[in-house]
Amino acid sequence: MKVITEKSELKKEIELLKSQGKTLGFVPTMGALHKGHLSLVQRALEENDALVVSIFVNPTQFNNPDDLVTYPRTLERDVALLQTASHDILVYAPTVEDIYGEHVVSVNYDFDGLEHKMEGKFRPGHFDGVGTIVKRLFEIVTPNTAYFGEKDFQQLAIIKKMVEMYNVPVSIVPCEILREDSGLAMSSRNVRLKPEYLEASPFIYETLKTSKIKFGTESAKDVVEWVESEFKNHPLLELEYFVIADIDTLETIENKKENTLYRAFVAVYADDIRLIDNLALN
Ligand code: PAJ
Repeated sequence: MKVITEKSELKKEIELLKSQGKTLGFVPTMGALHKGHLSLVQRALEENDALVVSIFVNPTQFNNPDDLVTYPRTLERDVALLQTASHDILVYAPTVEDIYGEHVVSVNYDFDGLEHKMEGKFRPGHFDGVGTIVKRLFEIVTPNTAYFGEKDFQQLAIIKKMVEMYNVPVSIVPCEILREDSGLAMSSRNVRLKPEYLEASPFIYETLKTSKIKFGTESAKDVVEWVESEFKNHPLLELEYFVIADIDTLETIENKKENTLYRAFVAVYADDIRLIDNLALN
């Protein structure tokens, strides 16, 4: 395994791999790796000859400056976790300058309106930052296949759209959400949860699961109202949004249509930590 901080060096390594006819997988991350990330790494190793994992806390996708400052950075530990994986991995852990030069700004994207829904409403500029960094990383790494978690389902939809819009020659593989035994979706931010909030957090997945059962017999509107009242009565967790949306358009619905797949999406504050989760409903 090699840890590389400069794109010029990474490009040389990648050229060498490609000249040997090796297929290249890519897992972009912001580090503070957990089993969710490692499940993407595992899958990418199974499906490719070589793998790049990027570790970069991308400043342009943080709409909240405190979140950027407090985001966990654990490069040494991350590298140790990746070392246990069997194949050769190139870890790309660049500086902000290596990626952005002097101008740390995002491109303004139009992802067909996908960027304005759900997360986009509450995190202005977030998907411009995500689009900017992922497009740049794709240009540097030139992977055959890139792996993204359904944990960030809207991000995944936006990356797919970006790849289609710009004809980027990479196939995007969605990967299932990994959860703690408690049901809490794994996230780098979980390490910052205070004990009482960590204890309360399984309520999020429990509520998603019950909303799935209710969705079998009730209207989307009734399910949304039920979830909102559940969180209103919760002493610790504060609901930012709960919506039921078409998985292709991310359009929220009040009434179901035939032959359409839906997911429930939720964002919750546990003290100052923002947690997101989602679940397929049909
Ligand atoms: P990060 O939050 O570090 O996540 C990296 C990848 O791991 C994403 O594709 C995310 O969806 C996936 N992931 C996170 N938690 C997961 C879980 N519990 N189960 C399965 N997959 C999970 O997402 C980002 O970084 C950034 O926005 C990035 C794409 C790297 C651009 O900066």
